[in-house]
Amino acid sequence: MCYTSGMKKFPDGFLWGAATAAHQVEGGNIGSDWWEWEQTRGRERSGDACRHYELYERDFDLARSLHHNAHRLSVEWARVEPQEGRFSDDALKHYAEVVLALKDRGIEPVVTLHHFTNPLWFARDGGWEDRRAPGRFLRYCDAVVRILGKHVRYWITINEPTIYVSHSFLFGVWPPQARSLWRMWRVSRNMVRAHVAVFRMIHQVCRDFGLREPAVSIAQHMTALVPCGSGLRCRFASWLRHKIFNESFVDALVRRRALDFIGLNYYSRQLVEPSNWGIRSLLSDVCRENHRPVPKNSVGWDIYPEGLYELLLKLKKYDLPVMIAENGICAEEDASRWIFIRDHLRSVSRAIGAGVPVTGYLYWSLLDNFEWEKGFGPRFGLVEMNYRTFERKVRPSALKYAEVCRTGVLSAE
Ligand code: FCB
Repeated sequence: MCYTSGMKKFPDGFLWGAATAAHQVEGGNIGSDWWEWEQTRGRERSGDACRHYELYERDFDLARSLHHNAHRLSVEWARVEPQEGRFSDDALKHYAEVVLALKDRGIEPVVTLHHFTNPLWFARDGGWEDRRAPGRFLRYCDAVVRILGKHVRYWITINEPTIYVSHSFLFGVWPPQARSLWRMWRVSRNMVRAHVAVFRMIHQVCRDFGLREPAVSIAQHMTALVPCGSGLRCRFASWLRHKIFNESFVDALVRRRALDFIGLNYYSRQLVEPSNWGIRSLLSDVCRENHRPVPKNSVGWDIYPEGLYELLLKLKKYDLPVMIAENGICAEEDASRWIFIRDHLRSVSRAIGAGVPVTGYLYWSLLDNFEWEKGFGPRFGLVEMNYRTFERKVRPSALKYAEVCRTGVLSAE
């Protein structure tokens, strides 16, 4: 790491790129639980999204022109296995072509196997609460890994398990809109089991086929949990939330020796201020008085680049490589996007200097896309999307980031 006049040089071989997820960009994901939910409950329908299912080559050309050498995408379970046990050769062939299209452009694929959405048949027949869930997920992943394994080294089994379980089973905002600690606990347990089974399967398939060692992880969402005051309650609640929401899933997988690296998704800070010692307050109350103000993104999330540095240092104890699997901003003004990227990359660089083995940075997202229950409003893309004409337009921030991707150097300005 070089610090000459504030310039930061990232390690050779660093992965630079952006991330997407199937349901948010592909369009027409009709066999999934989210699609069904959007028809009656969502604010907006994902519809054609970015038509990435057909236009992926155009998008990868853009990624290459922006000097990305890595790209994270997800495979859609509902397309690959539209009915239980019946696999779609067309969908599998499609994803093989997608991965090869990346490889042809010199872009390393990072493949996610579950990014929030489920096939309808699975959701209707017990979903992740059912004890058959890990076996069902394993069967689907096995079909994908046998086809893509030759070309893919980096695998993310499950995206943000703690966000999925809390939004879908505790806060009741995502399908199936449950509010039950017990159901959340069952789903978490099944997701741990599913990950471990898939982790082992991917390693086994690579051994059987004589392929190089894979790198398998989850993408763990972490929030910087900052006590609002210096009192015991704020400090205790921050510690507790960090243990539960940031670390518990990773800990469970590390105990089972089922992580080759840590995929980290980082966006924001929570200023922790519980009003009482009750568990609900300890786990969810935040400061309402605008103490310690920081800039916010267009949906009101605190922008807090120091948090990324602090969290990366906390990950040091696991002694595993870390890949930033998502980090990004939705903004009305593109200028704030580059400032966001620059400041977060400074945090990454500081953490590398402090001995954290960070191996890559994937900006969320390559394209503006369908932001779940918030619809198409939030604009996270390096590339602007016209949802009427499907025209793609590279934003100025993307060009600045491209320069870092090309040179591996973050300049001082
Ligand atoms: C993450 C999700 C991703 C996207 C970003 C903004 O939590 O993994 O799909 O919605 O937030």
